[in-house]
Amino acid sequence: MKVLIFSFLLLSLISFIVLYYQRKVRMLHFQLAQKNEMLILKSKQAVMGEMISMIAHQWRQPLSMVTLQISNLEFDKMFGRVMDEDKVWNTFRQVSDTMVYLSETVDDFQTYFLTDKETQKIEVHELLGKVLKLVSPRAKVKQINFEIHKEKDIYLQTYRNELMQVLLNIVNNGIDAFEGLQREEKHIFLHVKEHENMIEIFIEDNGCGILEENLHKLFSPNFSTKGKNGTGLGLYMSQQIMQNHLHGKINIQSSPKGSSVIVSVGNL
Ligand SMILES: Nc1ncnc2c1ncn2[C@@H]1O[C@H](COP(=O)(O)OP(=O)(O)O)[C@@H](O)[C@H]1O
Ligand SMILES: [Mg+2]
Repeated sequence: MKVLIFSFLLLSLISFIVLYYQRKVRMLHFQLAQKNEMLILKSKQAVMGEMISMIAHQWRQPLSMVTLQISNLEFDKMFGRVMDEDKVWNTFRQVSDTMVYLSETVDDFQTYFLTDKETQKIEVHELLGKVLKLVSPRAKVKQINFEIHKEKDIYLQTYRNELMQVLLNIVNNGIDAFEGLQREEKHIFLHVKEHENMIEIFIEDNGCGILEENLHKLFSPNFSTKGKNGTGLGLYMSQQIMQNHLHGKINIQSSPKGSSVIVSVGNL
């Protein structure tokens, strides 16, 4: 009888412990999922932030052109100058062209920041050219030269927009690497190689470089050396996209002469 009671108590105790830990594990799972969701949300916000900043750069010059042209007409009227009909029409036409350009810029960015449902066959240098077109206003202000070195066409079957987002993050980091830096010539050099069924995209800059002690932290969420100008989510998110969606990875090397980012990606 005693043995029976003892076994019953022991069994109850074990069931209680198992139930207790099951609950605890479920709770931890839930907390982890919540944390992950927060991180994804923050990454999305960071991407939006970078996109808005790129659009702002792209818009600044055309917008001031429009303002200037309209003020020219206003001045003419204010000082009682004769309104030349050709001049007025010319201004209208130029303003209208600029508006089309502004609207196209938004369309461009909107397309690239949507995620693809299907893979596409792309020529890699062509994609790099599109990335550079998006960041070129930012680079021009900072007097940074881009160069794509091409030997031959290299094709890749992949999710084009995702790869584009990753490359945009990396090139934007390259541009940031010249912040407050005195260099006679600032350049970002891009080239592509085929290596054992993989395609390697090299993005090299002669910017500030990365401290050895920081190299292993680059892909951690929130790691940034840019203070309030950085989110530290760009590389984290890019590595996630590469590993989880694009069958690839990012490697980063650095020296005092600058940094070299290698994006390895396979066909999907
Ligand atoms: N090309 C580069 N040159 C120098 N530092 C870089 C480069 N790319 C990345 N880094 C470093 O990696 C950090 C993390 O980059 P990222 O995740 O994009 O965040 P953020 O750009 O918001 O700081 C940067 O703050 C910077 O210190
Ligand atoms: Mg960044």
